[in-house]
Amino acid sequence: MTEIYRVSSPSNIAFLKYWGKKDPVLQWPANDSLSMTLNSLATKTSAYINDAPDHVFHFQGESLGRDHKSFHKVFKHLDYLSETFAFDQKLALSSSNSFPTGAGVASSASGLSALTIAAVAAWTQSGSFGELQEKGFSREHLAHLSRIGSGSAGRSVFGGYVQWQAGTHADKQKILPLYDASHWNLCDTVALFSHTEKSKSSTAAHGDAWSSPLFSTRIAGAPERMQAMLKALHTRDMSALGPLLETEALDMHAVMMTTLPAQHYLTYESTEFLSSFRRARQEGKFEAYFTIDAGPNIHIIHEPSQAHSLQSWLKDRFPNLSLLFDKVGEGPTLERGVI
Ligand code: PMV
Repeated sequence: MTEIYRVSSPSNIAFLKYWGKKDPVLQWPANDSLSMTLNSLATKTSAYINDAPDHVFHFQGESLGRDHKSFHKVFKHLDYLSETFAFDQKLALSSSNSFPTGAGVASSASGLSALTIAAVAAWTQSGSFGELQEKGFSREHLAHLSRIGSGSAGRSVFGGYVQWQAGTHADKQKILPLYDASHWNLCDTVALFSHTEKSKSSTAAHGDAWSSPLFSTRIAGAPERMQAMLKALHTRDMSALGPLLETEALDMHAVMMTTLPAQHYLTYESTEFLSSFRRARQEGKFEAYFTIDAGPNIHIIHEPSQAHSLQSWLKDRFPNLSLLFDKVGEGPTLERGVI
């Protein structure tokens, strides 16, 4: 019998985005970010110690190797973890997403956090977060290890509302759970405009951010925007948070569109959608606000009371649009089983 460690780790949606790095090797972000950890949009990853010459990784049933164009970072991250902690055993891992990979629902956040937790759990034979902590892997430590794999993944290690502080030096970064999910039950309805891999991964695009003439202004304004968002979050003030979410997402996309080379993640359809959406809100059809990551999908943030009116508008106005429904969640789970 072999012990297997099963992790489910959710994606998160950033309210204040991490875009651009001060140091790409140390994963030191250019600004602080703030996110809401989701509930059901998650990656499930299992891991066990395997007697094989290299790690074995299956994604949605398919075996993927070290040279795979999108999944090579799984192996890179496993190598980083095993070198850092002298974990020399090889792992067999199996992973699947509950949502389309690489289309702007942050699969790197859920994927790299699930991978980190599952791998460390298997290596240290830990069947709970308590056991991990006893072995020197607190949640904050796991969050920092996850962000090495993909920056946004660090925030997914905690549930609720999470802040990633850049700090004054790369090793002074902090990833902090600010409020539990119960603080404010916000929903994320995702309008899917693409089911395919994005043209350029966000990891590659982070490096281009500095070439935008708008980037330094964005970074300079981030602390003030963070304060305003924190206040709105603290007081659960949707009419204050909503406009900040939209300005922030468009600000990041303005940077993306003005880099060299320019990066347009938004499509014609998603831009058209935004105009109709704003018009409908102005007409009083619902109170909901959008945010957008590095892809064409639109995340609509709203309170549960708005779900019905929002969904009837969406069904009526965009009957063929694919939607995902999620809300704030409690963070990753870990369990031990046997095979
Ligand atoms: O973690 P990465 O390298 O995939 O970057 C994520 C960047 C955004 O999703 C666009 C913003 C964020 O803070 O999650």
